[in-house]
Amino acid sequence: MKKALLLGCVAFFALALTGRAQAQAVAPMPHLEKRGARALTQLIVDGKPFIILGGQVNNPTGFPDRMESAWPKFKALNANTIEYPIYWEQIEPQEGRFDFSGVDQIIKGLRSQGLRAIPLWFGTWKNGAMDYVPAWVKSDTKRFPRVLDYGGRPIRVLSPHGQATLEADRTAFAALMKHIKEIDGNEHTVILVQVENESGILGSPRDYSAESTRLFNGPAATELVTALKMPPGTWKEVFGRRAEEMFTGYYLSGYINAVAKAGKAAYPLPMYCNVWMGGEGTSDRFLEFDRPGDSYPSGGPQSHMINLWKATAPDIDIIGPDIYHQSPLIYRTILSRYTRPDNPLYVVETGIGTVFARYCFYALGEFSAIGFCPYGVDVSAGEEMSAGFMDMAANFRVLKTALPVIADLQVKGKLQAAVEEEFIPGRELAFDGYDILVRFRPPVRSSGKPLAASGPPVPSGRVLVGQLGPDEFLVAGFDVALDFKPSLDTEYTAAQGLLIEEGVYDNGVWKPTWLINGDISDAGLVLRTEGNLIKIKLMRY
Ligand code: DGJ
Repeated sequence: MKKALLLGCVAFFALALTGRAQAQAVAPMPHLEKRGARALTQLIVDGKPFIILGGQVNNPTGFPDRMESAWPKFKALNANTIEYPIYWEQIEPQEGRFDFSGVDQIIKGLRSQGLRAIPLWFGTWKNGAMDYVPAWVKSDTKRFPRVLDYGGRPIRVLSPHGQATLEADRTAFAALMKHIKEIDGNEHTVILVQVENESGILGSPRDYSAESTRLFNGPAATELVTALKMPPGTWKEVFGRRAEEMFTGYYLSGYINAVAKAGKAAYPLPMYCNVWMGGEGTSDRFLEFDRPGDSYPSGGPQSHMINLWKATAPDIDIIGPDIYHQSPLIYRTILSRYTRPDNPLYVVETGIGTVFARYCFYALGEFSAIGFCPYGVDVSAGEEMSAGFMDMAANFRVLKTALPVIADLQVKGKLQAAVEEEFIPGRELAFDGYDILVRFRPPVRSSGKPLAASGPPVPSGRVLVGQLGPDEFLVAGFDVALDFKPSLDTEYTAAQGLLIEEGVYDNGVWKPTWLINGDISDAGLVLRTEGNLIKIKLMRY
């Protein structure tokens, strides 16, 4: 009898284990998917839409100890994902001998913190140069040729025409992806991979080696001119003043595509490239001429190069901008250029401070971003997160439980943002059946005191408004007051709150934490500096 019981238990646990293994095995890979009538591309993780509220660590932090000491800062940021570098020189210090011990520790560490991981492959290109390639690559200038500038001098950038360099980079990257599959193929801690970093040539518009010049003087690549619907001719004839940059972009994007393709063959995670902005009004070097190879790396996926990259690098799923501009005009221009049917918006890197906390709302609410990631989350020396991240951390705190709902509203086209700018104290949003006036940093009354200005002394108002149903809205924001009216095309004259609740989502279920009464909502629905997540049911009469 005892034996039968024992056997039964063994069989039960074996079945349970097999069941678990099967459940893990069938969990779909992280992938991009077009969803809803708008065919909006979203990132799907463990079968569900996933919005990245991330942080990128500083360049030298891609080591286990440094990452571990930054965990309190990741937590304080309320991030769900961390971008961190993997250095080619670190994993392959000698050719063909790989050391993935650091890679393993970091992935397991992030997993233990409940965080997702986005490794950044610092390979052939890093900020338009080559700083993180192994010493055996740097020192063998014959086998791994550098770009020659106009004067024929070698510079600190590897040539995109170097076949041996491509072979070495893609071998290393494929080995890395194979390894990530081995240690993470079931868990999916790693959800997305960046291939190279701010690629392009800084220091020259193209490689002026004899072979490169021979190619440049020949016909522009047929594949490219056909894809761009241009007439054939030499690079100069077809692309005029952009000829050298397009030529570089063609070879460089093809190179990076080959690296990504080899990585995907080992483990097909979605892959993206980030961008050092420049060209067509996107440079932040305002006091210099904006020239490829000079103010920004030539041949990279800058906004005027996206069509080329889309044609020649099909294995790069997303091109994501690094945006450090404070100007709302330039910031939104960049957001709109990287939001395309073939390119979901992912803000890979951005600055810190209230300005960027506001722009996060544009990205999510106006451009349906799949993610937003400030740079340098571990910047401060001690345990504490630097004060510059406070507003972003508040954003992430208010938004994080509502992310599945926000993703759904994005798909349905029912999400909008209102963001305060200098000289813009309010904005009106039009929804089905309702118009909403958003007033930024409104005057508010605290008990017994007269109405007084609210919020900090700088523009900070920001709100996401999503229409959940004909008379129901989700509101997430800071330093705003909302007034509701029936839209002009209805017979109603006024709108009134039926039920106003502050709360959080718990696994998709709304949990009210506070019923907002008349004293608080009589001068408009006020969302304060600490931030609120509110559901409001309305009626029109
Ligand atoms: C952009 C780069 O992509 C990052 O790796 C880092 O160098 C930052 N610039 C620093 O601001």
